[in-house]
Amino acid sequence: MILGIETSCDETAAAVVSEDGHILSSIVASQAQLHVRYGGVVPEIASRRHLELVSPVIREALGESGVGLDSVSRIGVTCGPGLIGALLVGLSAAKAIAWSRGIPLVPVDHLRGHVASLYLGPEPVEPPFVCLLASGGHTLLLAVRAHGSLERLGATLDDAAGEAFDKGARLLGLPYPGGAEIDALARRGDPEAFRFPVARVPGLDFSFSGVKTSLLYTVRDLGPARLAERRADLAASYQRAIVRALTERLRQAAEQEGADTIAVVGGVAANSELRAALPEAALAPLSLCSDNAAMIASAARFASPLALFELFHLDAYASAA
Ligand code: KG4
Ligand code: ZN
Repeated sequence: MILGIETSCDETAAAVVSEDGHILSSIVASQAQLHVRYGGVVPEIASRRHLELVSPVIREALGESGVGLDSVSRIGVTCGPGLIGALLVGLSAAKAIAWSRGIPLVPVDHLRGHVASLYLGPEPVEPPFVCLLASGGHTLLLAVRAHGSLERLGATLDDAAGEAFDKGARLLGLPYPGGAEIDALARRGDPEAFRFPVARVPGLDFSFSGVKTSLLYTVRDLGPARLAERRADLAASYQRAIVRALTERLRQAAEQEGADTIAVVGGVAANSELRAALPEAALAPLSLCSDNAAMIASAARFASPLALFELFHLDAYASAA
């Protein structure tokens, strides 16, 4: 049994996953409501909340799974990238349990965790595949040749896709986190009402800062009264532009790699238009798109644990290696 722990941003999460990739429990305590009034995650508030939640959330994950710590054969914990203070809370909890119980600890990269959400039962996706990882902090195209083996094919040069959703939502006067808000509002709007060009950068990279700026100018030109009337059309058109950029690049990457399978993971993989636009893709189940610890436990199945003495040197990192 693997215990996963994740605290890289504003979700405190713990999960128990079996060695063959079945989820026995997955507890996610979202802090989103705590950060709403600030319009985004406040790192120091997130760290403090993780500190309050980490032990009860781990206890709940163990309790729900019916698995005692005696039966846990490894612990997987997110070491980065993410908010450093937030990461340190989960990492310290994991180190303490690992040390006191003599349980092997596996440091897990958050991005590898998102990819490993595809390896969980009941219908795991087997490599090789080309994967779009689109979250609030990252947008990457990856060639996944084997479990645990990732090659970066492209990435965003500026904002992440989730960040574009969140910033766009803010411009439209929608609450944080904005991705799901735009998704819901877009269903009532006309996606062809406005044109929001997404910059085409060379290779397999992305750029989302321009589309956000063009939304900003459109919102400004409309003024508050007309903005209220056109909000759904703006959301739909803005979402269409981001989804189009993501799907075009993903298909281009798959063609270039000669890949038979394409996959999408990360918070933005929950987007209904993106899911509908990629009927052929393997999509992470909705409950595993946004941050969770089952994906971290899953990634720990395919990485080596640290030797006990190495535990003391293990540190968190804020940015992708
Ligand atoms: O993977 P995730 O939970 O956390 C990070 O690792 O960043 O991704 C969060 C991001 C946020 O930007 C959020 O707005 C976006 O995923 N998101 C969505 C949807 N649900 C969450 N974006 C578009 N449509 C959605 N339905
Ligand atoms: Zn994430």
